[in-house]
Amino acid sequence: MKKNDNIDYISEITRLKKKKNAIILAHYYQTGEIQDIADFVGDSLALSQKAASNDADIILFAGVKFMAETAKILSPQKKVLLPDLNAGCSLADSCTAEDFKKFIAANPGRTVISYVNTNTDIKVLSDIVCTSSNAVQIIESLPVREKIIFAPDRNLGNYIVNKTGRDIAVWDGACHVHEEFSLEAILKLKEENTEAKVIVHPECELPVRMIADFIGSTSALLEFTRKDDSKSYIVATEPGIIHQMKKANPLKSYIAAPPKDSTCGCSECNFMKLVTIRKIYNCLRDEKPEILINRDVLLKAQKPIVRMMEISEKLGL
Ligand code: 13P
Ligand code: SF4
Repeated sequence: MKKNDNIDYISEITRLKKKKNAIILAHYYQTGEIQDIADFVGDSLALSQKAASNDADIILFAGVKFMAETAKILSPQKKVLLPDLNAGCSLADSCTAEDFKKFIAANPGRTVISYVNTNTDIKVLSDIVCTSSNAVQIIESLPVREKIIFAPDRNLGNYIVNKTGRDIAVWDGACHVHEEFSLEAILKLKEENTEAKVIVHPECELPVRMIADFIGSTSALLEFTRKDDSKSYIVATEPGIIHQMKKANPLKSYIAAPPKDSTCGCSECNFMKLVTIRKIYNCLRDEKPEILINRDVLLKAQKPIVRMMEISEKLGL
């Protein structure tokens, strides 16, 4: 139990959740402590699905801003709270609406698919949103000849191009966490742990993806470690996910893939880690910071997200 300033944060959060009919949705990259007080823990797709269907009056999002905005867009009637508005995303910020409009104009006649890791103004410019859990399937659900724009992640984009063989113009953005994993350090770890399987998020660079035993979204990586019979894994994504892996299979070993700069600890997402138990308590108590989106913008951004949800439902994802 967490005690500080004479406040027992965990029991206070539990009390406030009940009193206010609030739920906490947490992404796998949150700390283990936060994941354990959440009502629901998941990847971007599962969190969006949960945000769209629940009976709470308040959703507190333990994650980053684009995730909380997606929850608000899907549940505009609910109060959506984010404990720290500075919890942004370097990938989302690598694509501005002004530059993206120019990119669309330079690549006319293409269906615009944007990764959910975008700011709301990019979703407004998109035909369909996707997550790393459903990107390949959503693109494969479109006619073979349909030309596509994919933004903003160049690594996930390159992964999708290789998987689907489709004609896709890919925006040149990246996540600073997933581009930081060191191929050399992973290969060295593999030499020392010959039994370990290398499991990789598709936002990682091509050389790291090329040595992967398995590539998938956070939930796919978790599912892989649940079902696979290996005893040990080198995990190339934000290490918060290892909390759930350990819970599911405590006897297996999970080694966080090292970053290129061994002094920086930068395989952790500094934006995700801005959320703390104390900030969650303050946020639930004060019901702020709140995510507010202009109604016209919200309705425009809703269309491509709803399209993603419909396609995903049809495909059983
Ligand atoms: P998932 O969609 O796999 O949860 O990934 C989200 C994310 O932010 C990856 O960096
Ligand atoms: Fe954004 Fe990367 Fe953090 Fe995911 S891990 S929220 S893509 S900065």
